[in-house]
Amino acid sequence: MLYIGIDLGTSSVKLLLMDEDGKVKNTVSREYPLYFPHPGWSEQEPEDWYQETMSGLKELLHGFDGNEVAGISFGGQMHGLVILDSNDQVIRPAILWNDGRTKDENNYLNDEIGKETLSKYTANISFTGFTAPKILWVKKNEPENFAKIKKIMLPKDYLAYRLTGVHCTDVSDASGMLLLDVENRTWSKEMCDICGISEEMLPKLYESYECVGTVLPEISAQLGLGDNVKVAAGAGDNAAAAVSTGTVGAGSCNISLGTSGTIFIALQKFGVDKNNALHAFCDANGAYHLMGCMLSAASCNKWWIEEILGSKDYDGENKKIVKLGENHVYYLPYLMGERSPYNDPDARATFIGMTMNTTREDMTQAVLEGVAFALRDCLEVAKSLGIQVERTKICGGGAKSQLWKKIIANVLNIKLDILESEEGPSLGAAMLAAVACGRYPSVEEAVAKIVKTTSTIEPEAGLVEKYEARYQQYKNIYPACKPLFQKII
Ligand code: XUL
Repeated sequence: MLYIGIDLGTSSVKLLLMDEDGKVKNTVSREYPLYFPHPGWSEQEPEDWYQETMSGLKELLHGFDGNEVAGISFGGQMHGLVILDSNDQVIRPAILWNDGRTKDENNYLNDEIGKETLSKYTANISFTGFTAPKILWVKKNEPENFAKIKKIMLPKDYLAYRLTGVHCTDVSDASGMLLLDVENRTWSKEMCDICGISEEMLPKLYESYECVGTVLPEISAQLGLGDNVKVAAGAGDNAAAAVSTGTVGAGSCNISLGTSGTIFIALQKFGVDKNNALHAFCDANGAYHLMGCMLSAASCNKWWIEEILGSKDYDGENKKIVKLGENHVYYLPYLMGERSPYNDPDARATFIGMTMNTTREDMTQAVLEGVAFALRDCLEVAKSLGIQVERTKICGGGAKSQLWKKIIANVLNIKLDILESEEGPSLGAAMLAAVACGRYPSVEEAVAKIVKTTSTIEPEAGLVEKYEARYQQYKNIYPACKPLFQKII
């Protein structure tokens, strides 16, 4: 049998076809536009997601027997607000995870409702990209749209709805809404009241590996699928990537270098950091995790190489970098403000330390290093909780760069395990579909059979020392710039 994983990303949807032994048989990727209608805003059209997913699925299945497909599942960009009216029509464009418009609502939640109360209800505090402050924003700024809301969903759940007709979500993705009682894996009535919504507006909750329904007959006919193709709830993209990278046992870690950058640490038991600098979310295997999220990671490199240098030659730009650990230029990677650990939508990207000797390579290197230093900021929070991370997996577009992986291993001083397949959330989603269809009895069993490490990048003592000194310098830059960021907005 075959299983399909759909990763609804920010720049594209990635589709993957997997056989029952976990071998990747085909992949397809389709892009769609991202709109920035005002500085700091970030939106997409759910219809674009659906159209590109459907045409991508046709291409994915070309040359394969659709009757062999047993299950489909999803990984998806988290936190996005999708609102439907009483006819299940999309009311306005989706407001995405990296949208910073909700400063006032975020302050209201954190300061007036209070961080302690939010953490008690949801295990998290508010961040501008989370879903609850966006609901409050729509309520205040678009009351006519708010009045029409019948269903509130997350991006990947909109695709599940279009494929099955079912309004559903999973606990890992729902964790990022600030509407879920994460510890108990149920909706928080208190948070619904705070946001002025009813629980009926929220989709039904599932574990990521549970079946929510089957593909609608008209969709099966369009795609050439058989009857009774099961659809599993799926997971937020980071939890789905954790499945594909085998990040399931307590203390295991995965770094994702996508548009966002995340450091994901699996927990066996529920736990929260006392300042809520890391997110405390449900996992796709029935457990929990802590996660630090940077809003701009691989997107910093893309912006620098493509928009600023006007190049597409990533390898060529990387090849000229030779002075690892000796760069005097620093870069703060806050192109969209920052989430973890600072929770500062006003933060901005910054280069500092250039002289007349500074070269193009130094600047490119600073961008790669700035992202690594910001990941280290999140790792430091985990360390302060007594969590020891000695090794990590890595996935996402940025993980294709050998140089970047070496920089990260040395800045974080941890081993980087390189996997046979670096497909990330789309593979994790296909694995969740296989679990939902009974091919594997649990997520852990699927991981044990499918995920394979091929090599390890070890940190090098001399380089670790040099980067330690650089990180100590880097750490001073954000606190010094913070008051300026508030003034230059
Ligand atoms: C996680 C987060 C991002 C998005 C991007 O909290 O906001 O990783 O899921 O896809």
